[in-house]
This record gives sequence, C-alpha cells and structure tokens, in this order.
Amino acid sequence: MDGNGRWANKRFMPRAFGHEQGVDALVRTVKACVVRGIDYLTVFAFSSENWRRPADEVSGLMSLVLVAVARHVERLAQEGVRIRIVGDRSAVSEKVRASWDKAEAATQHNSKLVLSVAFNYGGRWDIVQACQRAVADGLGAADITEAALSRYMALNYAPDPDLFIRTGGELRISNFLLWQTAYSELYFTDCLWPEFGEAELDAAIAAFARRERRFGGVDAAPPALATQGA
Ligand code: FPP
Repeated sequence: MDGNGRWANKRFMPRAFGHEQGVDALVRTVKACVVRGIDYLTVFAFSSENWRRPADEVSGLMSLVLVAVARHVERLAQEGVRIRIVGDRSAVSEKVRASWDKAEAATQHNSKLVLSVAFNYGGRWDIVQACQRAVADGLGAADITEAALSRYMALNYAPDPDLFIRTGGELRISNFLLWQTAYSELYFTDCLWPEFGEAELDAAIAAFARRERRFGGVDAAPPALATQGA
C-alpha cells in the first residue's frame, strides 16, 4: 500500500493524513474484493524495516491501527471478512497487540474473504521464523522440505497469491511475501495507494487475466510443493 506520503505531500498535507486516507482505500478495496468473490487479500501495512521511519510517523501509524480497528472492524465483520495479522507481534505495544487480538477474535468465524494484514512483517523474517519453529519442533535437515517449511510460514492457512499488486510506482518487492510469491503475477501501478479503489483493482485483475501462467512448466498447473530435500 505504497504512496500515502507522496499523496499527502502533493496536497501540502502531513504524511499522517496520507496514511489515514490509506485506511479508507484499504476498506474500499476489501469491500471491492468481497463483491468480486476474491477469497484472500493480503496487505503490507508495516514492514520490519518501517521502524526506521521518524518516531512520530511510527507512533502515528500505531495509533492509526487503534483507530482503524475501532472504526471499521465491526462493519467488516458484518460483511463476512475474517481478519488475520501476520508478522512479529513481540515488538509492538500491548495496546496494538490487544487491538489486533480484538480484530481477529471479532471476525474469527467469518470466511467470505480472509484479510491478512502484514504488520511488522518481512519476507526474510517469515522464512527465518519458519525455520526456527521447524527446528524447535524437532525437524532435522532431511525433514526441511518445501512442503514442511510451508506449514510454518506465517500465511500457512492461505494459498500462494495469484496476483501481487504494488502501488506507488516502485518496481520492487521490498521484502514482502518472498516465499509465497514464487509464481505470483506481479502488477505495478503508479497509482498512489490513497487513490486505489474499484477501478484500479479491476485494471489489475484484467491485466492478470491476460497473463499466461506456466509455473515453470508448459501448462497452467501450479507445481506441487517439493516434499524431498534438494
Ligand atoms: C507506504 O506508503 C505505506 C505505509 C508504510 C503504511 C501503510 C499503512 C496504511 C495504509 C494504514 C494501514 C493501517 C491499518 C490499520 C492496516 P509511504 O508512506 O511509504 O508512501 P511514500 O512512498 O509516498 O512515502
């Protein structure tokens, strides 16, 4: 969800305002996904590297979580959205943790769309934590296979993403779902996140529909996860 800061700067507004509008864009996009029958939406809200931002921006983003959960979760719950948080919760404040717990608990019985919010998340962190948990469970070198490790990844409940959308014009993955996007179709748009909505989503889906997916083979069947080591 890139481009909040630039969107605000263009309007001579503080970056925090851009993030607030970013929450509205997120709610809009979640609703659009529900209408379109999309089962899983995963958004990058705060990366492991975002702690490097100025302290006031970081604390503003944390406060925004509290406001956004209080303001939007009930409505999203009514729409059948299940919210799940992925990322390292140990470094966030108790208040933010409690807020995420509340959002997850309030929506846990829903299944229309699973909204995963990556928060204090990094693709490398995810792979490392999966290895650590696998080893802690007693898996040895020979047991570490793609299929085994997948069960320890933070998004182990979701299929790999078909479509990866990055807004804001940057052409990189920036440590998002490194493991899970092995065969995702990548879509980059200059649209700044606060302006994202139905039209942009449809443009991304239309571009996806034109892609020919071969998963490294000759047909459109995704490869089964390797169960044996290299
Ligand atoms: C990137 O834009 C955006 C972020 C680091 C924050 C994204 C967060 C939200 C949209 C709010 C989400 C909140 C909840 C509750 C899930 P940027 O600041 O890097 O923009 P720039 O590239 O224009 O500077």
